[in-house]
Amino acid sequence: MMNDWDICFFTDDGRALRVLDQTLLPEQERFIELRSSEAVAEAISRLRVRGAPLIGIAAAMGLCVALTNGEDFDEAKRRIVSARPTAVNLSWALNRMEAAYSEIKKSSSHTPIEKLREEALLIKQEDAKTCYRIGQFGSQLIKDGMGILTHCNAGHLATGHYGTALAPIYAAAEAGRRFRVYADETRPLLQGARLTAYELTRNNIDTTLICDNMAASLMAQHKIDMVFVGCDRVAANGDTANKIGTLAVAVLAKHFGIPFYVCGPLSSFDNQCKTGADIVIEERGGEEITSLHYLKPMAPSGVHTFNPSFDVTPHELITGYITEQGINKN
Ligand code: MRU
Repeated sequence: MMNDWDICFFTDDGRALRVLDQTLLPEQERFIELRSSEAVAEAISRLRVRGAPLIGIAAAMGLCVALTNGEDFDEAKRRIVSARPTAVNLSWALNRMEAAYSEIKKSSSHTPIEKLREEALLIKQEDAKTCYRIGQFGSQLIKDGMGILTHCNAGHLATGHYGTALAPIYAAAEAGRRFRVYADETRPLLQGARLTAYELTRNNIDTTLICDNMAASLMAQHKIDMVFVGCDRVAANGDTANKIGTLAVAVLAKHFGIPFYVCGPLSSFDNQCKTGADIVIEERGGEEITSLHYLKPMAPSGVHTFNPSFDVTPHELITGYITEQGINKN
């Protein structure tokens, strides 16, 4: 299975992080090497590496590379942490690295960089185990013949392994169940079309790509039985930030009486944010809307744009949360 594909790893000399450049998918599978905090921050902010858990993993591993190449810990951390604001996994992973760093400094018997590398790899391994568990719990909800809708990409390409929203899908397929996945294309950067449809079809999952504005019609035709989405930050009251458009899907699911599940690791839950109103929503450049994936102009130049990258789904619209600890119903 392509799920074994490693898309974020150290080079043998530890001086670079090799990551799959996701902006080139599905046309090209090309890896790039990141050798500084600046390069890591650029890769995250340009979405070469994206998806909340993978952002955290790449940040932790990227910090090790920056230190190996002589950068100062605090400066490198500051640069990487400011790459994107919404996914809490970014600061979560870097704060964990900082805690490990101060522990290591107390004990003179260890070479800091080796221990830090171990910590970063542990974050990656733990995420893979977490995703597996999300898959095992979530797959129990999937029955033969179902239609499942997902939005954006919360799959293998967004995590250490397996994905979050796609983990139940992979686990159910491995258990021999037969169902169909509908993938929203996910404007403006098309993570659903370019990434979700890509990895699901590569794994022989029955996948149908739809435009974002088609979900209501499919639901009205009883083609969707369940929705699985990922999350970038879940507030203490359960309000959930995820890719822009998730809220619209949740409203539709409520209207049509379709279960709507948020899948994510506990590292995406942020108790510092009391409600969704406390979550900072990233706003990106208008060129992502006025041109098709940076290439072809699709709107008159000079038109006003508004391009929030995420929205917040209020907890009342969420049926339950699937984490490494199980299914927590609202
Ligand atoms: O802008 P992106 O592509 O990083 O947005 C990704 C999402 O919104 C995912 O659903 C979320 O990060 C969860 S990934 C397991």
